[in-house]
Amino acid sequence: MANKETVLVSGGAGYIGTHTAVALVEAGYDVVIIDNFSNSEPSAVEGVEKILGRKVAFEKVDTCDKDALRKVFEKYPFNTVIHFAAYKAVGESMAEPLKYYQNNLVSFMNIVEMMKEFNRPNILFSSSATVYGDAEKLPVTETTPRQPATSPYGNTKQIAEDILRDCCRAYEGLYGIALRYFNPIGAHPSALIGELPRGVPNNLIPFVTQTAAGIRPMLSVFGSDYNTPDGTCLRDYIDVVDLAKAHVAAVNRMTGHKMEQKYEIFNVGTGTPLSVLELITRFETANDLKLPYKIVDRRPGDVPAVWADTALANEVLGWKAERDIDDTLRASWAWEKHVRGIK
Ligand code: UFG
Repeated sequence: MANKETVLVSGGAGYIGTHTAVALVEAGYDVVIIDNFSNSEPSAVEGVEKILGRKVAFEKVDTCDKDALRKVFEKYPFNTVIHFAAYKAVGESMAEPLKYYQNNLVSFMNIVEMMKEFNRPNILFSSSATVYGDAEKLPVTETTPRQPATSPYGNTKQIAEDILRDCCRAYEGLYGIALRYFNPIGAHPSALIGELPRGVPNNLIPFVTQTAAGIRPMLSVFGSDYNTPDGTCLRDYIDVVDLAKAHVAAVNRMTGHKMEQKYEIFNVGTGTPLSVLELITRFETANDLKLPYKIVDRRPGDVPAVWADTALANEVLGWKAERDIDDTLRASWAWEKHVRGIK
């Protein structure tokens, strides 16, 4: 690339943000990471730098702080923003809805407002398969109707999608892409970056790896009486390195002026459903260990099954999930061992 394009990555010290920052630099972009470390650590940025063998621009900024954000826009010449910064715990959002609406929507609107003020054209938003809820037809395509959100967290994703759609329609210079992630898992093959959940993990794989590490005595499988082949829920588990590459493909589309509409949406998944029990078995086999688990009641709010139709991302972004699930599960375990200092 003759002139390196710069991409601002908000929440760039987080799980998906770190992997995306690495993928962007490897693809020839410069990145500026901003993060307030509300759910991440400075070591995550160091991990990015170790993988890349160079420093990356970093500013400790809360995206809810508009004046601090304005300084970032004044300082750096990026045309593209990837907005990851958000709270993401479904259960916590039920207990503290205002915290979620305040943080996730204010930070998003601040970003869009600054982009408008500084004439920066491209924004990529982290959306979620949660917007599909309990879909009537599977797999879900981007035109599958969204269901009413079942948590404030999910609602912030739906509302932010709508804000982005309306702003792209109204403001001439603004272009938006929403990526709807399915279930991101795995870690960078170097084991230098990965997911760092605080406290008791809500998501399946961090709970699995912490159980394998002996931090949790037992994994609970939430429900085995769903109308699915083995009775446990079906999900589409997407490797975080593949997911990061989907962001690069979307950024290429934006910076290459290839967008056909001002606001576009893409599913980012593998297209292959796996049950909870299948995932546990594959984790055990891939890593040659046994996981203690028990079947317990369903977790309120879980949908029985959701997986992606990925045709649009495959054809339009030229992106496809490539990582083998067993490699992904080995990377998850390698990362947990790295974090815990297990040999
Ligand atoms: N599960 C267990 N035991 C656990 C944790 C999870 O059996 O300890 C099961 C769940 O019941 C579900 C599957 O593993 O069937 C996956 O659960 P996760 O919590 O890992 O992921 P979800 O599909 O619930 O979460 C995803 C996204 C969220 C999003 C949510 C909406 O990670 O961002 O879908 O439902 F909000």
